[in-house]
Amino acid sequence: MYHKYDAVIVGAGGAGLMAALYASRGVRTAVLTKLYPTRSHTGTAQGGVGAALGNHEEDHPEWHTFDTIKGSDYLADQDAVKTMCYEAVDIVYELEHMGLPFNRTKEGKIAQRPFGGHTNNVTKQPVRRACYAADRTGHMILQTLYQQCIKNNVTFFDEFHVLDLLVEDGTTRGVVALEIATGELHVFHAKAVLFATGGWGKVWSITSNAHTLTGDGPAIALRRGIPLEDMEFFQFHPTGIYKMGILITEGVRGEGGVLINNEGERFMERYAPTIKDLASRDVVSRAIYLEIRAGRGIDGKNYVYLDVRPETVNKYFDLDGKKNPDGTPRRITAADIEAKLPDIADFTRTYLGIDPITQPMPVQPTAHYAMGGIPTDVWARVLIDGKRTVLPGFYAAGEVACVSVHGANRLGTNSLLDINVFGKRAGIDMVRYCRENDFLPLPKEPEAFAREQLESLRSRQDGRERVADIRREMQEMMMEHVGVFREEPGLKQAIDTIKDLQDRYQHIAIDDKGKRFNTDLLEAWELGALLDVAEVTTAAALSRKESRGAHYREDYPKRDDKKWLRHSLALRKDGKIELRYKPVTITEYEPKERVY
Ligand code: FUM
Repeated sequence: MYHKYDAVIVGAGGAGLMAALYASRGVRTAVLTKLYPTRSHTGTAQGGVGAALGNHEEDHPEWHTFDTIKGSDYLADQDAVKTMCYEAVDIVYELEHMGLPFNRTKEGKIAQRPFGGHTNNVTKQPVRRACYAADRTGHMILQTLYQQCIKNNVTFFDEFHVLDLLVEDGTTRGVVALEIATGELHVFHAKAVLFATGGWGKVWSITSNAHTLTGDGPAIALRRGIPLEDMEFFQFHPTGIYKMGILITEGVRGEGGVLINNEGERFMERYAPTIKDLASRDVVSRAIYLEIRAGRGIDGKNYVYLDVRPETVNKYFDLDGKKNPDGTPRRITAADIEAKLPDIADFTRTYLGIDPITQPMPVQPTAHYAMGGIPTDVWARVLIDGKRTVLPGFYAAGEVACVSVHGANRLGTNSLLDINVFGKRAGIDMVRYCRENDFLPLPKEPEAFAREQLESLRSRQDGRERVADIRREMQEMMMEHVGVFREEPGLKQAIDTIKDLQDRYQHIAIDDKGKRFNTDLLEAWELGALLDVAEVTTAAALSRKESRGAHYREDYPKRDDKKWLRHSLALRKDGKIELRYKPVTITEYEPKERVY
């Protein structure tokens, strides 16, 4: 089947929907999504969207900018960070005016809570910058944007799985997608294509990510010769439910929750004496691992407690001298927890039989967010080399993109911000591009590469390997060797294992040979994407011989700005990963040692 749209957007999370809204105001726009749109992963983002509204206390976009750059361990491009943090205030009000039901202050303003790494730049204490809708902020953003897209007549192709990007003579021509319900391939001829396909947490065994986050976008880009930037930087969120990885929002600590080891100690006081449990995520995740390694995990196991029981929180509020703006001591009650963290209370009651009002929650770091991805500029235009050459008509936004506003470590709340700011910018620039350019012809047999990939998976006669086995082995190995802590022997072993798994992947068996809803086939295709992304991540991690943000090398424990203050760019050449590098944009903030 053949379709023709000016703008095609792949992915219906926050970035895709915001881009679709803006693109559809100017040109014919279609959204392709492998899920029903409101099942997109943005819907699981909990704690808030960052913007220096200053609704509770003094705050400034400039402070937000600095905190984001410091949080990134100085790897973020400073011009891009400034764009995001200064546009944050307007984008949050824009969402509010679309009807997003934020929590409110007593005066009726948007309520804000503290989050890791967001500070008053003078006192260095946490500042309330995360604008929230209970602990369902992402869910509310997704619903709000989807309603706006429907109102604006965006055309949706739900349950269409994109398999290939069409590029010829250095310009974008469209995409090829499989309609999951029928098994038919569809060619979408477009002037501009945006990838907003999200992350790839399923590379690891413990993850907050949904099953669908399999790195389809970066894998397709890599196969089309587009480099991937800063892939070695993958964030582990400190508080996933033990063994399950399901996210327990940092908003819990924003409301006063504390991390406790087996000795009953609030251990973050040792690792980050000023900001404690609200240090940046890389710092807190490492601290949890170090406690576990030192035998201070709960009952000697691989987890610690996150304690938000009112008696614990109020005790530490008193010890820290935390006050309300009117000078009265700060307090949290059981009713506050039910009102501000309802989903968390529901998750722990449902999955663990634990009531967070009376019991502490068992948590461990969980693979959460990709800082790297498809390189773009601040208009979401994809860049294909270190000289910032644009690939005309190709855009990326949200987690799949690397602008780079998160550098080596993202601050919580900045992903919901990133998707809105750069989704909007993508939509605006796609309209400009579509108006300035005509449709270019499709390549000959546009669906050939996608068809070949599927046929090769479907028709393997010697299939003896199972998708689930290869995926599990990859995930466990990546957790062990390419997780929070890394070192050369483990990374080398990881490279060998991935190669071996890629060989075995050539011999997988697909049981379902049919066409309709063939999830067996699609899971096999997704595994190929996961293996590609795992390979690039590991190669980039092996090459970067320093520790920065989420990339911690035990054999190179120091940050090395002289050699490594640069972005990596990974390409596949002749079946091998080749690494190149490009400079970081430093404008106002010279790199300094990070102290929390
Ligand atoms: O902890 C959280 O609510 C996660 C937020 C984020 O990743 O930005």
